[in-house]
Amino acid sequence: MAPLPATMKAIQISKNGGPEVLEYNDVPVPTLAAGQVLVKNHFAGVNYIDTYFRSGLYPAPTLPLTMGREASGEVVAAHDSVSRFAPGTRVAYMAGAPSAGYAEYTAVNADSVVAIPDALSSEEAAAIYLQGLTAWTFIREAGEVKPGQWTLVHAAAGGVGTLLVQMLRSVGAKIIATASTDEKLALAKKYGADYLVNSNDDIVSKVKEITGGHGVDAIFDGVGKATFDADLQMIALKGHLISFGNASGAVPPVNILQLGAKNVKLMRPVVNGYVSTRPDLERYTSELFDLVISKKVEVKIHNIYPLKDAAQAHIDLESRKTTGKLLLKL
Ligand SMILES: NC(=O)c1ccc[n+]([C@@H]2O[C@H](COP(=O)([O-])OP(=O)(O)OC[C@H]3O[C@@H](n4cnc5c(N)ncnc54)[C@H](OP(=O)(O)O)[C@@H]3O)[C@@H](O)[C@H]2O)c1
Repeated sequence: MAPLPATMKAIQISKNGGPEVLEYNDVPVPTLAAGQVLVKNHFAGVNYIDTYFRSGLYPAPTLPLTMGREASGEVVAAHDSVSRFAPGTRVAYMAGAPSAGYAEYTAVNADSVVAIPDALSSEEAAAIYLQGLTAWTFIREAGEVKPGQWTLVHAAAGGVGTLLVQMLRSVGAKIIATASTDEKLALAKKYGADYLVNSNDDIVSKVKEITGGHGVDAIFDGVGKATFDADLQMIALKGHLISFGNASGAVPPVNILQLGAKNVKLMRPVVNGYVSTRPDLERYTSELFDLVISKKVEVKIHNIYPLKDAAQAHIDLESRKTTGKLLLKL
């Protein structure tokens, strides 16, 4: 292994704001604590949550904050306490602060790192990891989706959305996709959506018509504020309403009495809670990688930006013009 440099490039914020607060800085290469490996990142995933930490919707645990929640790369060093990953192993990981992906090197707890199978490229692994684990665990554990059930995916052409649609297809659900343009709806159809609804139309009455009045057994909603009220109207008796994001703003406090009309199971899950133990992380990661390797799920990459152009990636993601995954190349 080549000797490690003392400094590296990283994208940081020192205050909250728009994409312009993202700084391209020289920072020290992280040192290793017990249980950690040092990963030389190849690709970092851009996720909507990165915009929440940038804007201040989610409070930064520390400032300056190095951005990013996931990356793929190769292990270049390990703390003496770690024997799991030999140097040179290709890996992917999800990380919380102070570990971060928008950087050339990241020190990560070995317990949250997984090896990338030979059949997957580092690019594919970074593109699928966080959003794929989100979609797959939410289908399995939050939605408990069964074959033949009615499901609905909002923002179905987005990063999580394209994966949800393909994975719901693989479990045999009936899929209604919403998106804001015909081009996005066409992509959802290509990935297996059975019914398409433009989100500028009256979604509630279209869904009532499509489902013959039954409603939707499992709704996957990463849009948040703009769609939550419609979700309550579209959900079927005993349906699972999985509200998991804030792309249009955070859902305001909910009157719990509203759930009684249809015995709704309302959930606001976070992916980390479904992969917090090593056995769960390994099982779901292996199932996720198998879905891609067996070609049941295609990895849709919108664009790969150089690290220094992270601000442009945020502008593009928030402008609603992207489909699939955005990556930064290190
Ligand atoms: N809870 C978790 O563990 C977890 C994990 C991963 C992601 N998420 C959430 O999942 C959601 C999707 O994340 P992603 O990274 O895959 O993003 P994305 O879906 O690729 O992009 C967001 C999409 O949301 C839709 N949208 C609707 N209203 C919007 C608005 N006012 N501004 C911007 N976009 C709007 C747009 O699609 P249309 O133009 O088609 O409406 C847009 O393309 C986010 O809310 C994210 O926070 C949650």
